[in-house]
Amino acid sequence: MLKKKKKILSKKKKIPLVCLTAYSKNIAQIIDKNCDMILVGDSLANVLYGMKNTHKITLETMIKHTQSVRLGVKKSLLIVDMPKNTYITKKNALKNAKKIISMTGCEAVKLESNSKNYNIIHHLVKSGIPVMGHIGYTPQFKGKFRVCGHNQKEKNKLIKEAKNIEKAGAFSIVLECIASKTSKEITEQLKIVTVGIGSSVNCDGQILVTDDLLGLSGFYPKFVKKYVKLDKIIEKGVQKYKSDVLNKKFPEKKNEY
Ligand code: KIV
Repeated sequence: MLKKKKKILSKKKKIPLVCLTAYSKNIAQIIDKNCDMILVGDSLANVLYGMKNTHKITLETMIKHTQSVRLGVKKSLLIVDMPKNTYITKKNALKNAKKIISMTGCEAVKLESNSKNYNIIHHLVKSGIPVMGHIGYTPQFKGKFRVCGHNQKEKNKLIKEAKNIEKAGAFSIVLECIASKTSKEITEQLKIVTVGIGSSVNCDGQILVTDDLLGLSGFYPKFVKKYVKLDKIIEKGVQKYKSDVLNKKFPEKKNEY
């Protein structure tokens, strides 16, 4: 872990960090060699389970998916989102973070900021658990989607929040949907690495939900670039399979026993 973390921090202001989410071994093993960090995000609540937000996803579900992802991750730093309500007190945060790490072999946890829970981050870090922070649009604590950091008041608040998270001992911080001038300033003022999603090229690295960039999720806000239209590719493959089954072209002799 220490070696991976050091390597990640050494890239600040030099080489952009490449980060993605994964929810299963199959995707993890494909993306691993091209990533610095892989996050088992609680976005799986929306993306996989079709929930309206991330609020109801359980620790057990996050652990199950991380156990699968772990099997495919060799090189990247593996981080897991702590679900809502699993880090309310220092005691329950530490108990749950230890459970996640011992049951999955992940290397860090991510906590969303509610602008108050710096003491929780500090407690985990002091207990030897590497923590990634998360500010800006934080789905566990905010209802409606909104870009933040456009005005001076919000900018100052976000800079202060990021600095408090750094002071609490986090090694990195996700900046979600923060105005580009604000994410630039945060990135310049912090020693730890910033990982942006919808927060411009000014961050130390970028993260996207893998299902979004592959064209699988059906969720394509402005900050997502669809690199592959996997939905179309899969549909074509399935149509071909259907046609082969209907025309008795599959299975062939070579597929028989
Ligand atoms: O849950 C998630 O996938 C995330 C990323 C969007 C950073 O938090």
